[in-house]
Amino acid sequence: MKVLVAYASKYGATEGIARRLGEGLRKRGLEVDVMRCKDVHEASGYDAYVVGSAAYEFNWRRSARKFVERNAEVLTATPTWLFSSGPLGTEKVDKDGNDVLKGAEPKQFAEYRELVHPRGTQVFRGAYQHDEIRGVDRIVAWMPAVRDILPEGDFREWDAIDAWASTIADEMGEPAARA
Ligand SMILES: Cc1cc2nc3c(=O)[nH]c(=O)nc-3n(C[C@H](O)[C@H](O)[C@H](O)COP(=O)(O)O)c2cc1C
Repeated sequence: MKVLVAYASKYGATEGIARRLGEGLRKRGLEVDVMRCKDVHEASGYDAYVVGSAAYEFNWRRSARKFVERNAEVLTATPTWLFSSGPLGTEKVDKDGNDVLKGAEPKQFAEYRELVHPRGTQVFRGAYQHDEIRGVDRIVAWMPAVRDILPEGDFREWDAIDAWASTIADEMGEPAARA
């Protein structure tokens, strides 16, 4: 079975997650291409799709949104999973007691559940180095209120990423149970 892992990453954290998911799926005997969304010129021809993006201001990157929207028909007809990378820090719940990963779902998850009926959606913690940030992000990231919610570090949880790759491999051959 052939799987496409397509991702959108600005500073590399999400690319690392996508590559790790690809390795996990290969270990399960699947043939895997890991590609940036913007480099995928022909999306059809795979038996499953895993699509992910970094979240900025609660939204997926444009190239990932375009990828899903342009290929919605193929994704709907084929087993598809979506992931998002974003929340920084290690807290499980926020100051109001709400689940941090749930609260970091990008706006696109709700929309794409309707559009492509993914078999699963998952949020992973991300990574952030203040000095690497460029352009308009840098202006946002320097705002004192924003700096407080953007702790620096690599918070990616490789065990959770590996476990999700395993779940996808398990579910791939099963009939659809919609997310
Ligand atoms: C300006 C800015 C805005 C961000 N907004 C969000 C957000 O809305 N939700 C979220 O979960 N993470 C947010 N993050 C964290 C990034 O999504 C996180 O660092 C991610 O892992 C970056 O992935 P990338 O290196 O692949 O671009 C933001 C980071 C920056 C610098």
